[in-house]
Amino acid sequence: MGLGRLNDKVAIITGAASGIGKGIAELFVEEGAKVVIADINAEAGEQTAAGLGDNARFRKTDVTSEEDVKGLVDYAVTEFGRLDIMHNNAGAFGARGSALEIDGDAFDFTFQLLVKSVFLGMKYAGQVMKEQGSGAILNTASISASTPGYGPHIYQGAKAAVLQLTKTIALEFAEYNVRVNCISPGGVYTPLIGGALGVDEDATAEIAKGMAKILPMNRVGTPLDIARGALFLCSDDAAYITAQNLTVDGAEGTGKKYDQQGVH
Ligand SMILES: NC(=O)c1ccc[n+]([C@@H]2O[C@H](COP(=O)([O-])OP(=O)(O)OC[C@H]3O[C@@H](n4cnc5c(N)ncnc54)[C@H](O)[C@@H]3O)[C@@H](O)[C@H]2O)c1
Repeated sequence: MGLGRLNDKVAIITGAASGIGKGIAELFVEEGAKVVIADINAEAGEQTAAGLGDNARFRKTDVTSEEDVKGLVDYAVTEFGRLDIMHNNAGAFGARGSALEIDGDAFDFTFQLLVKSVFLGMKYAGQVMKEQGSGAILNTASISASTPGYGPHIYQGAKAAVLQLTKTIALEFAEYNVRVNCISPGGVYTPLIGGALGVDEDATAEIAKGMAKILPMNRVGTPLDIARGALFLCSDDAAYITAQNLTVDGAEGTGKKYDQQGVH
């Protein structure tokens, strides 16, 4: 049972059929929001929405399509009468491999999936929120946006672009009382990571157990950890917080712990 921190708010969450987005949709509904789950995977999206009851809807959306994203925002407003929260979260690793070999089309696809999608979400949600005089936009970046070593090349570049777009568009939207922030998860062992490694859910869980041993807090992050950060940024508790990036990674991306007995 939630505390009603999102009572009367209408939210869109992209990529909410799975992983982090799904965890956010669950917490937002628990906190009183009406949520539109947007995803390219209709089967999983319908299932997630059905599991959340009357306050959730599913809308099939390809976030790289301008027509789809515009249609998604229109759908939320028609269905629930307003739009308070837009979380641009959908994503995947995209192009992988050596920089000597990645082809231009794979680069374009990755930037469309991770950057153009976020821009389109901000554009169409921003239009409604400006008119309304309020709103909170949240973009999912990653610790790989600022520290190399946590994802493929193009993914890292795309996530860095998400950080900067968040800040510049936050400055434009600030006078409309529309806040724009970013959340940067560390490793969360969702299908995104399993898929990239080519392993199933059980094997992903095993890998997560191994990772936990070398992480600062001796555990990996969960969708709920990220959802709690997203809840704060999207709620009125964060009314004067905009253009910020909240890292939720248990210090995974902070650096190496110094051996206090050692010399280096
Ligand atoms: N899992 C991690 O360790 C991690 C770390 C940092 C950042 N992130 C970011 O978090 C976000 C969510 O990742 P996740 O780990 O939950 O992955 P996930 O694979 O569990 O979920 C991603 C969802 O996005 C959807 N999607 C993919 N392409 C789409 C498209 N074109 N249109 C609409 N939906 C689409 C997928 O169908 C899926 O449901 C991504 O932006 C990812 O880059 C994840």
